[in-house]
Amino acid sequence: MKQIQLTEHIYYVGVNDRRTDRFENHIELPNGVSYNSYLIVDEQVVLIDPVESGFIEEYLFKVKSALQGRKVDYLVINHDEPDHSSSIAAVLREWPEIQVVGNAKTFGPLEAFYGPITNRKVVAEGETLSLGTHTLQFFMVPMVHWPESMVTYEQHSGIVFSNDAFGGFGTLNGGIFDDQVNLAFYEDDMRRYYANIVGKVAMQALKAIEKLGGLEVKMIAPSHGLVWRDNLAWVLGKYTQWSKQESEPGVVIVYGSMHGNTGVMADIVARGAAEAGVKEVKVYDISKTEVSFIMSDIWKYKGVILGACAHYASMYPNMTLLTHEINEFKPKNKNYGIFGGMSWSGGGVKTLAKWAEDGKWNLVAEPVEVKGAPIREEDWDRLYALGRTIGELSTH
Ligand code: FEO
Repeated sequence: MKQIQLTEHIYYVGVNDRRTDRFENHIELPNGVSYNSYLIVDEQVVLIDPVESGFIEEYLFKVKSALQGRKVDYLVINHDEPDHSSSIAAVLREWPEIQVVGNAKTFGPLEAFYGPITNRKVVAEGETLSLGTHTLQFFMVPMVHWPESMVTYEQHSGIVFSNDAFGGFGTLNGGIFDDQVNLAFYEDDMRRYYANIVGKVAMQALKAIEKLGGLEVKMIAPSHGLVWRDNLAWVLGKYTQWSKQESEPGVVIVYGSMHGNTGVMADIVARGAAEAGVKEVKVYDISKTEVSFIMSDIWKYKGVILGACAHYASMYPNMTLLTHEINEFKPKNKNYGIFGGMSWSGGGVKTLAKWAEDGKWNLVAEPVEVKGAPIREEDWDRLYALGRTIGELSTH
């Protein structure tokens, strides 16, 4: 079998998942996801982060093939989340003498998930572990993505095994390294991953990036998505931009509409934004597009305009999940606007306005509420003006 090698003695032994519909059972995976794992073969042999347990047979085959009869001495757990750690029991069955390497916060959750782990090595910030020629060094990156998260730096090769950080959705379709693929294909799914997984802890992500700044990094090997060796500046730049929440020109319009009227309003708002000079105007029906895609664009663009019709005395139900996610992830540096239909009760605009007030979201224009359908000139004018105002603020 032709091994995938990062260096002469460091192997990629990850797997592709094209059968899971939703990551963490809620984020759609139209392009799948990879669970990356790495093997270092030296005087001591190390596995860095295993894979999701459903792929254990394929995983063990790849690891054993690279090992050529040797055994694994250490298993580094950079992160406890089961998309990586859930095969730990199977790995320990295969090599019962493995020492599991984690930090002071690793083993509590790990044992809560999988039971006692007696053969363990607890490492601290900056601590090293010599393997022979290679030396691992451990750096804590709490909350990227869980409290115990850490990255492992291998000093001889200059590779950072970054776990969730610098990861992305999308399987690795033959190309494992960034210079073997069309990056444009991966960028949107990287940002969607960031906005829905890492974005909540953007400040901690920024600190993690700064921590890497002190190391001589030749390659970044995350646990999802591409291995970075040729476009390090590009991926570091993207992560820094997203972590600093530097929004790009553009407007995202999201609406929930029971009978189509609030959808018609969304088109009028969009026309106003476009005539303000915004080239990137995205319009989403919240009942059609899963929230992770919308959050990804909200993270990217400056203007965010939410529209909801009334549903009894509240708002179109699906919009509740989006406003919840905005509350959770707190995208900053946005210009918000609100619109929607009253139906017979009102409630959509009122609920969105209350949400904006409670969350102190930057509402830059008066909310626009329309009785029934937007069939009156003044309704068109108000909706158009809403789009135009936010568009003018979101073109630079
Ligand atoms: Fe890929 Fe937070 O696990």
